[in-house]
Amino acid sequence: MKKFLLGAALAALATGATAQTIGFSQIGSESGWRAAETTVTRQEAEERGIDLRFSDAQQRQENQIAAIRSFIAQGVDAILLAPVVATGWDNVLEEASEAEIPVVLLDRQVDSSDDLYLTAVGSDLVHEGEVAGEWLVENKPEGECRVVELEGTTGSSPAIDRATGFRNAIEGHDDIEIVRSQTGDFTRSGGKEVMESFLQAEGGGENICALYAHNDDMALGAIQAIKEAGLDPGNDILIVSIDAVPDIFTAMAEGDANATVELTPNMAGPAFDALEAYLYDGTVPPKFIQTESTLYTQDDDPMAEYEKRKDLGY
Ligand code: AHR
Repeated sequence: MKKFLLGAALAALATGATAQTIGFSQIGSESGWRAAETTVTRQEAEERGIDLRFSDAQQRQENQIAAIRSFIAQGVDAILLAPVVATGWDNVLEEASEAEIPVVLLDRQVDSSDDLYLTAVGSDLVHEGEVAGEWLVENKPEGECRVVELEGTTGSSPAIDRATGFRNAIEGHDDIEIVRSQTGDFTRSGGKEVMESFLQAEGGGENICALYAHNDDMALGAIQAIKEAGLDPGNDILIVSIDAVPDIFTAMAEGDANATVELTPNMAGPAFDALEAYLYDGTVPPKFIQTESTLYTQDDDPMAEYEKRKDLGY
């Protein structure tokens, strides 16, 4: 990596150029948040004069691995990777490292050695789950609270860490219990389908006090299922989720959702800043560049928050 760093820095100094060609292996378009991340990344690249080579993996790790190999063969200056799952990246990351192409992880983590990538830009995913859980601890109705959980994509770092964080927050609160937990794959349709089965299994929803969804899209699908079951989401069943997409703010304004934890879709800005500095003069970024996790509730003028985000590509 050191040899590359000097070579790249010298080349950049000689030409006055920063990173010009960057490959981006995106997971797909499972959620509104993912669509916004793609839009923002394209915009950031355009504003910086970067030739962004985009590859949509359609949720398949093998497609991401093939895309990274193709980027290596093309001799790109750097690679952005939003990894669909946490495991199984060692070989391809080693190949990128051997080719002296820096890799930056976006929004999700991998379980490979951190020597194999330059930096990771993302939120503290455990903390997000904790913020959601703390909101429920403070806002649940009196008495026992039976919670259902819609998990993200199985094996993905946000699904693992958001589950952990929520459990950390409710630990010691014996009146809160997670009674059902199943993946909705971060999609609206998955959230609706799984929520329908939760409602059926839990007395038509009578036995459910709250829903924790690992993203807003699944919460939005679940809201539809709750309404179709004749219940009042946001009142009969409290709803807390993660992302802060525009549609969750309209749901909040209508009283159908209660709280969300924001995940910024602008991972590319900090990633390109880090890459430009690295390729220009060898500045090595920290291994983790953390973005903010802000909680929004119905008290935060949801329609104003909707207006701020509605044109951002969600
Ligand atoms: O990795 C980030 C998560 O992926 C977002 O919270 C979710 O909406 C997306 O699919």
